[in-house]
Amino acid sequence: MAFWCCSPRFLIFLFLVSAIPIAYIISEERVKSHNHVFHYHSAGFFRECAKWDDQGRRFLVTFLEGGVGEIHVPDDYTRDVVLKEVTVVKDFDLTGNASLGIAIDRPRNRLLVAVADLLRNRYSGLAAYDLSTWKRLFLTQLSGPSDEKSFADDVAVDADGNAYVTDAKASKIWKVGVDGEFLSILRSPLFTPKEWYKSLVGLNGIVYHPDGYLIVIHTFSGNLLKIDLAKGSEEVKLIEVGGGPLAFGDGLELISPTKLIVAGNPSGRLVESLDGWETALVVAKFKGPMHRLATAATVKDGKVYLNHMVGMGYPKKTHALVEFVL
Ligand SMILES: *[C@@H]1O[C@H](CO)[C@@H](O)[C@H](O)[C@H]1NC(C)=O
Repeated sequence: MAFWCCSPRFLIFLFLVSAIPIAYIISEERVKSHNHVFHYHSAGFFRECAKWDDQGRRFLVTFLEGGVGEIHVPDDYTRDVVLKEVTVVKDFDLTGNASLGIAIDRPRNRLLVAVADLLRNRYSGLAAYDLSTWKRLFLTQLSGPSDEKSFADDVAVDADGNAYVTDAKASKIWKVGVDGEFLSILRSPLFTPKEWYKSLVGLNGIVYHPDGYLIVIHTFSGNLLKIDLAKGSEEVKLIEVGGGPLAFGDGLELISPTKLIVAGNPSGRLVESLDGWETALVVAKFKGPMHRLATAATVKDGKVYLNHMVGMGYPKKTHALVEFVL
């Protein structure tokens, strides 16, 4: 997701060259949020994606330095409590790669994780782990050093357990079967805008709609696409979106068949469609802590929470999952 501006070096550079962002960040951090925020202490500064696991009563988060953590929310949780991240996956075979978008495949009790070589774009993969034991179920290479540059960014899972992984670098979608077998690559002219600068970061957040299609966002153009899976061969269409652009859209979360959350910049947008995602309208916007960079959305007990990439504080890094009040 927002990897293009989040290399640690770039952020350190930003911090060093200007005192203004620091002053701004301190003042922003002091603003008391009226929305509910889950804070948690973490081992790392960058957490790319968070999804609520209702059965496990925990948030699952991915590490930009590679790995997956859980943030358990106890029954007696109160608002002033700072939760704690516990590492559940640290995959030796994937050392050096970032963990990015995740999808909980509930019927198969597993977590799908998009994995990529953040700095050189020379490796992309999809890993699956058992949600109870965290045993790895498969690791599928999607792209390697001899292929075009790639960046596996986010993943969605359909009713049969097939996974669809977006490539933010070369703007394509990999399809992986239920047992991890590599199936196909989906490309479309609609995945690549004409303007070169809009192609710098391509396909990003992806969700599976229960009516049998995918909804995908293209980061820099803000194009929202519908990909019909039911018709034998995938059909790609541009969804006509009114009510404001969706540029810099990142993670997606379908909160009902007609409502979609787009995390990104500004922090969150609510998009609604009443015609099966042929057309859609941005109906609400939310501005959270901008300096923390919203990158993903999830639903916990009927409420939407936005994951923020950047943790703050030293030595204890604190991350924020901020409620997007609808
Ligand atoms: C990412 O993981 C793959 C698969 O094990 C490995 O070959 C590659 O070297 C890793 N990438 C980096 C940047 O370490």
